[in-house]
Amino acid sequence: SRGKDLAGLKVLVTAGATRERMDPVRYITNDSSGKMGFAICEAARDRGADVTAVFGSVSVPVPERVRKVPIESAQDLYDAMMKEAPGHDVIIQAAAVCDYRVDDKKATKIKKKAGEPLVLTLTENPDVAKAVGEIKKEGQILCGFAAETDHVKQNAQAKLKKKNLDLIIANDVTVPGAGFNVDTNIASLITEKGTEELPLMRKRELADVILDKVMEMRK
Ligand code: PMT
Repeated sequence: SRGKDLAGLKVLVTAGATRERMDPVRYITNDSSGKMGFAICEAARDRGADVTAVFGSVSVPVPERVRKVPIESAQDLYDAMMKEAPGHDVIIQAAAVCDYRVDDKKATKIKKKAGEPLVLTLTENPDVAKAVGEIKKEGQILCGFAAETDHVKQNAQAKLKKKNLDLIIANDVTVPGAGFNVDTNIASLITEKGTEELPLMRKRELADVILDKVMEMRK
């Protein structure tokens, strides 16, 4: 057992999917269930950390005995993280953030016009992890995930740099048993120093391996 090796640490975790509304009843989102982020919350909590979970739409229960900050959109996530990040020692961003939002959100339900296409224009959302990287404080450890479908390692390495992260956990979301909405994952832990390829394991076990790496980097 890893014991209470995270006692006294404040750990901030993002989980789930953001929702980008087009009107009061419709939105754009993705397949994130919250399982990966919540597994990290549980692992950190069980090892003695004070955990804050910032979570969007999820399909599994929110863990007990963690501070809960629910959000809906990428903009909400940005606002929450700008407020929360400075007060935490370790930040792990597993949320699947929509890169775009609907440009012109309607206050009332969009009416169907038979025979006519509906055209939506999408605007870029803030890159939350990058913004957190820009306000990184001495001693903080920042981690992100990279959900990739191709050139996994190269794309993840680029994100590590661009977002000023200490660790990025890359997962190929096209492989069965990895990525969205399953209980297992296949990941690589990528730092400036190198890459560690991990076998298929339960998300709860991967969570502990990620926290082991974080603790090693804090030394
Ligand atoms: O929730 P589950 O069903 O368990 O699925 C887990 C998961 C597949 C969602 C998870 O393992 C994962 O890969 N999460 C990251 C999803 C993602 O948004 O990846 P990305 O490669 O697009 O983003 C890279 C990093 O930047 C991520 O840490 C992300 O949180 C962050 N990001 C991305 C875009 C954006 N606008 N702002 C961000 O902060």
